[in-house]
Amino acid sequence: MVTSPKSPKGEAAAPAPAPTLLSADAQNAAGILPASHWTAQPLPEENSGNDTDSTYGSFRSTIASLASSIYEYRTIQGRTYHGQMGNAESWEPNDARHVESMEILHHALVLQTDGKLYLAPLDKKKVQKVLDIATGSGLWSIDFADEFPNAEVIGTDFELDDCNQEWTWGENTIDFVNMRFLNGVVDDWYALFRNAYRVCKPGAWVESSATSTKFLSPDGTVKDGSAMDQWGKVFREGGKKLGRTFAVYEEDLQRKGMEAAGFVDIQYKDIQVTLGIWHPDKKAAEIGLWWKLAIESDIEGYINYFWHAVLGWTPEEAKVFARHIKREWNDPNLHGYFMMRVAWGRKPE
Ligand SMILES: C[S@@+](CC[C@H](N)C(=O)[O-])C[C@H]1O[C@@H](n2cnc3c(N)ncnc32)[C@H](O)[C@@H]1O
Repeated sequence: MVTSPKSPKGEAAAPAPAPTLLSADAQNAAGILPASHWTAQPLPEENSGNDTDSTYGSFRSTIASLASSIYEYRTIQGRTYHGQMGNAESWEPNDARHVESMEILHHALVLQTDGKLYLAPLDKKKVQKVLDIATGSGLWSIDFADEFPNAEVIGTDFELDDCNQEWTWGENTIDFVNMRFLNGVVDDWYALFRNAYRVCKPGAWVESSATSTKFLSPDGTVKDGSAMDQWGKVFREGGKKLGRTFAVYEEDLQRKGMEAAGFVDIQYKDIQVTLGIWHPDKKAAEIGLWWKLAIESDIEGYINYFWHAVLGWTPEEAKVFARHIKREWNDPNLHGYFMMRVAWGRKPE
């Protein structure tokens, strides 16, 4: 098995070990509350969202029509999903329910960048071969291929190409490498960008989008000890245990990795991503609603792995936590958002 060299120093990287449980002391030190904290509280109703709230109400018809237009578009175009989805080593499930969640997320992610699939200044006449690393549902690749009908777009995922191994594409062969939303997937972000640099043609661009898992609020309504606060803490500790960090934004790994690999003209855009229905701005609220729908559509898929494998909670305890965080995302008085960074850089000519 070929392993990626570990950077910045270049020692060999061992494959990420299966995580062991985080000890009670370590959980405590990380500020993670025990399952009993949640099970002792009155359980929110399943649909405890303030459905009658006018903000939410005004979006219901929008959701319905947008959702059907997404699926209709896919049907009209006769598209099928690329089948390359994760495997058991990934913290994310690879079943239909999770893929559907990633499809909805694709819609939210594109809305956030004003309908753009990429922010790098690509020259449409020159782009012939494109890699979409960890493509997930494959919708980014499909949409990109529509926009660049003459380009070959290769969407890869775990089963076909492990992005943590030495990449198999030839040196100087690719015009654009897209790596969107690889939180908790990458063993070594420096090695990832070294791989991307090697396969890029001179003048080609790499782009990476990554989210923080830390919920912030402009007015302190997301409190320490809230379910939103705990969400970020568990993902960050889980990522450490898995050896695949979720702190990509916090540690500035996209910019650092590109720079260390040799990319130039590095730029980035930081975006505040609303999750929930609270934002007074219509566009931000719509994005928040799509994120909420995406995550809630497979909430167990997002939390089961870390809450079970790292915290040792039973599925019932994880479900109780899921009910609490859904209640928070449905509460228009809790103003949660998180940061996302889109970064891009060019291989020198
Ligand atoms: C959050 S999804 C992102 C999907 C897609 N890039 C998007 O933006 O819609 C992360 C994807 O990484 C894949 N993945 C996990 N580990 C991987 C690995 N080692 N190599 C390649 N893909 C991996 C998972 O199967 C999943 O589809």
